[in-house]
This record gives sequence, structure tokens and C-alpha cells, in this order.
Amino acid sequence: MKVAVIGTGYVGLTTAVSLAMNGHQVIGIDLVEAKIVKLRQGISPIYEPGLEEALKQVLENGTLAFSTKLQEAADADVFFVCVGTPEAADGTADLRYLYSAVAAIEQMHQASPKRRVVVVKSTVPVGTGDKVAELLSGCRELSVASNPEFLREGSALYDALAPSRIVIGAGEPETREVMEELYKGVDAPRVVTTRANAELIKYASNAFLATRISFMNELARLSAALGTDIVTIAHGMGLDSRIGPEFLRAGVGYGGSCFPKDTIALLQLAAQNGISLGILEQVRKVNATQPVWFLQQLQPFVPDCRGKRIAVLGLAFKPDTDDIREAPSLAVLQALEEKGAAVFAYDPIATDAVRQKFPNVTYTKTAEEAVQGAHAALLITEWKECVQLDWEQVYQKMAQPVLLDGRNAWPAKIVKEAGFRYVGVGKS
Ligand SMILES: NC(=O)c1ccc[n+]([C@@H]2O[C@H](COP(=O)([O-])OP(=O)(O)OC[C@H]3O[C@@H](n4cnc5c(N)ncnc54)[C@H](O)[C@@H]3O)[C@@H](O)[C@H]2O)c1
Repeated sequence: MKVAVIGTGYVGLTTAVSLAMNGHQVIGIDLVEAKIVKLRQGISPIYEPGLEEALKQVLENGTLAFSTKLQEAADADVFFVCVGTPEAADGTADLRYLYSAVAAIEQMHQASPKRRVVVVKSTVPVGTGDKVAELLSGCRELSVASNPEFLREGSALYDALAPSRIVIGAGEPETREVMEELYKGVDAPRVVTTRANAELIKYASNAFLATRISFMNELARLSAALGTDIVTIAHGMGLDSRIGPEFLRAGVGYGGSCFPKDTIALLQLAAQNGISLGILEQVRKVNATQPVWFLQQLQPFVPDCRGKRIAVLGLAFKPDTDDIREAPSLAVLQALEEKGAAVFAYDPIATDAVRQKFPNVTYTKTAEEAVQGAHAALLITEWKECVQLDWEQVYQKMAQPVLLDGRNAWPAKIVKEAGFRYVGVGKS
């Protein structure tokens, strides 16, 4: 099929590449000229494992092209809308990019009408797909489907090619058929339903995953007080098939471009409908206080941070991505700067983005460099470059051998035996 993908960020670019790999003829559209210039050269503006190689391949095959002009996509049968839906000042989803993309589609369609399907892939509040359909009701040949995205940054391409499920929200049988045709050959369970159900499935999924994390983070505080081990507890819990092992890892809090904004957007949507989602409110509170709670563990070892060198390892919101949106590292850097610490930070990919926000932090080229002369080292993102360290060397380099493991990813037994004072999350 001929497909246009509007917005070439984390979701749009991955969607465009995966559809092209699956044999469709795809054109990616973005407003940002610089991005399109790079993409045409086979350079990915974002870091995602395997994405750039795949991009080069589909460009070479001629199944993917890019443009800043939507008119160049006029012969497409399907228009994916993958633009950002960030958090507005009041916590609701800011839909201005979405509506502006829809207006552009309408204009293009009116100039050359034909049967087309507009697919909303961006995460949007319940009712948005219906509103888009209403806005486009003047264009008789256009229909609207909701097709939320569930990819995980860090394994985005893999997830797009082998999704956990494909959720299709569409009323008319012909629209559902187009969506089925589009995903023909992709082996994943289908949920074919209304647009509203599809939209809520996305928010509910993210809210539930955030709830699991905050539940474990709150429990980790109790576990630390009791002297029990949250990792063992999570393992024991996860073996129950009703619970399952995923998303039970206590840490320094969740971040990223989705959970923070989607949980607040869902709370706002509920409030607009007179419903209070108390559990979700608590989920957000726990997450907001988790970095603060984590940093309190530093107090016994570094009672006064002023002038003390603190190493922060890992800045991206999770490993294998360059995304720092709402990363817990930002809260940690902010707090350490307020305490007057001299912060030395390392991340394999995300340093440049963080430097713009924290110009006074010293950014190092390796984890080993960051821990040089440090009074404590903090693990914030479990990149392998930050986890697999030569502990003897690290011990010798540090001014004081104190490790605060915000991801329970360092080898506790080994580092303790090596003489470090080690604190994990939710461990004695
Ligand atoms: N990032 C994720 O892991 C993820 C996962 C699932 C769902 N989502 C949802 O997908 C959507 C996109 O997220 P993202 O992380 O890819 O965002 P992003 O900010 O990385 O990318 C959005 C892109 O859209 C472009 N854009 C904005 N308006 C445009 C327009 N009118 N025409 C053409 N291009 C336009 C921007 O220039 C940008 O390149 C959001 O709703 C998000 O919640 C994201």
C-alpha cells in the first residue's frame, strides 16, 4: 500500500521504517527541514538500536522517501499521524500539532480527493479520533482510525516489527479492512474495536505500567526500612502468573516522553468526566518523590555535598535511547546542584541534550573518568557502559568508595567484597 507518515520522531520514523520493511511504499513527512535532510541521507536524528541501518536499507530499496511537503504524499492511501501530543500547562494533552496535521491532510485531500484513511497513532485522549472524524466529515472519501502505538524506546524497531498487539479502532468495515491489509503478515493479536476503546487502551496500559513501577518503588522504601531485599521480593512476586515478572523493578523512578504526560492526561480526562483516579494520583506522587528519597541515602556518607565531587552515571531516561524527556537524572542533577555538589556526569549518548539544561555539570567521556576523585557514584541509568565496570580500578579512583545504585544493577556482592559501601534501592 502507499502510506504517508506525518511526524518523523521516535514513533513516526520507526513506523515509517517498519512499514517500508514490510513491503509498503512509504513517505515520511516532517515540518523540520533539518530532520528531513538528515533522513534522506540515511542519518537517523534519534538513537534507536538498529534503526539507522534499517533506514539506509529501505532508502536504498526505494520503499521509503522523505519530504517536508504533504502534497508529495498525495497518492498515499493511508495517512499515519505520529506527531507529538505533549503535556499542556494544565496537564491535558496538547493537541495542537495533531489538529494542524489534520488540517493539512484536509487541505491536501480537497485538492485531490480519493479514498483515504487517516490513522491517529499519536497518544490522544478518548474522543479525539471522533473529533478528527467530525472535522473531516466534509471530506466524504476520508475515514478515521485509531491505532495506538505500544513500542518501547530502546527496542522501538523490534517492537514495531513484532508488536505485542495491534489495536485498531474504527467503525466502518472498509476502514478496518484497510488496516488489516496494512498489517497483513504481522503476527500479533488484534483488538478491533471502537476509536474510543482503542484510545483508552493506550492510556490505561501506560497508567498500569506506571502503577507497577510506583508500587514497587513505594514498597522499596518499606523494604529498605525493614532490611529486606526488594529484588528478591520482586522475583518471588513475579513468579505468580497473575502478576508476572515485568515492570517490578524498583529504582529511581520512571521518566520518558510517555508515562509522565500520559498519566497526568488520563487524570485530567477523568476529572473532566467527574471521576477521581486516586491510585493514579498516588502513582505520580511516588514517582515525583522517588529521586528525593533516593538521594537521602547519600546523607550518611556525604552529609554536606558542598564542594564534594559526585559522579552521576547514566542520564537518558532508560538505556539504549538518547531521550531525556522527564528523565529522573534531571531531578537528581537539579537536587545535587542545589546541594552545592560538583557533579561529574557520564552517558554514552544523551550528554549533549543534558548539557543544554545543566551547563555547570562536568560531562566526561567515560564512566571511569566520572568517578575519578568522587565522594560517591550514583547509577541512574543502567547502560552496560555504566554497569560493567572494573571495580578494582573504580575503587582506586574514588576519593571515597560509596556507591548508590539507583537501578539495583551493580553487582552488590562483588562491590561490597571489593570494599565499597553500597546502597541499592529497597535493600538493607
Ligand atoms: N516515544 C515513545 O516511546 C512513544 C510510544 C508510544 C506512543 N507515543 C506517542 O506517539 C506520539 C509521537 O511521539 P514521539 O515520541 O514520536 O514524538 P517526537 O516529538 O519524537 O516526534 C514528533 C514529530 O512530529 C513532527 N511534527 C509536529 N507537527 C507536525 C506536522 N504538522 N507535520 C509534520 N510533522 C510534524 C515534529 O517535528 C517531530 O519530528 C505522541 O503522541 C506520543 O505520546 C510515543
